[in-house]
Amino acid sequence: MTTRLFEEKEHVLYYLKYRFSPPQKIQDMIFNYIHQKLDKPYELAVDVGCGTGQNTKILASHFQNVLGVDVSEAQIEEAKIAVNFPNTTFRVSPAEEISVDDESVDLLTAHAAVHWFDIGKFMKEVDRILKPGGCLALFCYYPPREVHYKDRSEKMSKVISEVDNLLSKYQHEKMKLVRTGYKEIFEVIPYTNKLRRDGILTKIAMPLAGLMGFVHSLALFQMYRTAEPTQAMELIKTTEERFLEIMDVPSNETEIEVCFRYFLLLASKPKEKQQCNL
Ligand SMILES: C[S@@+](CC[C@H](N)C(=O)[O-])C[C@H]1O[C@@H](n2cnc3c(N)ncnc32)[C@H](O)[C@@H]1O
Repeated sequence: MTTRLFEEKEHVLYYLKYRFSPPQKIQDMIFNYIHQKLDKPYELAVDVGCGTGQNTKILASHFQNVLGVDVSEAQIEEAKIAVNFPNTTFRVSPAEEISVDDESVDLLTAHAAVHWFDIGKFMKEVDRILKPGGCLALFCYYPPREVHYKDRSEKMSKVISEVDNLLSKYQHEKMKLVRTGYKEIFEVIPYTNKLRRDGILTKIAMPLAGLMGFVHSLALFQMYRTAEPTQAMELIKTTEERFLEIMDVPSNETEIEVCFRYFLLLASKPKEKQQCNL
């Protein structure tokens, strides 16, 4: 069954403002893989669960055409405004039934999204739409537990870890796939040519306000806010105050560095038809 958590306009606006594109290191790993596996021209990439298009826009300069799909109308509405490239289109569509032709896609990506899908149906759809030799890139990051600021990183990291510990109690069943680094999803990719990379360390500089906005945009936080609206908003306020006190600065525009540990699944569909266990 499709999980609907990203429909609310306010949540989507947090998304648009505070979610980031995949770091350069991850982009390089994906494109190096494609260059090894895929023959040019690269005609079509599909970004599934595209949200407001943070990953979709990265694909635009590498492919003749890019399609971003998401089950949330609100996300697609904002993606269309935010990403305005002539070769990129967005469409409301479930990941499990994407309206593109059989064997027409060179690369299919899902950034921080596949754990929400019906994995069995999605893998069948992947196999239907990928060209022979086409590639799949599924990637995400663990909730951040490391924040750096001058010599105060230990105290800063303790605060964000406490926030994660609290929010993890409100974890949706599907988020467990994130906590295990997509190990289970890797197992069901129906191709033998596949690899899994874990613990890819990336650091993203952002103002403290950016980290607070990111926390606000998390599905975990949305679930907490639904269960405990007053406490949830209080958590954002007190967490920011704790950070400011540790940093000994007055402004939440002060820059910090947040560590994200990514995991990445890469696979390529066989060029020749093979028996496939789907
Ligand atoms: C955590 S967001 C990630 C968005 C974006 N890829 C990014 O990089 O920020 C997950 C997205 O997956 C979408 N989603 C969840 N289940 C879906 C499904 N079955 N089919 C398509 N999209 C889905 C949600 O609407 C949401 O926009």
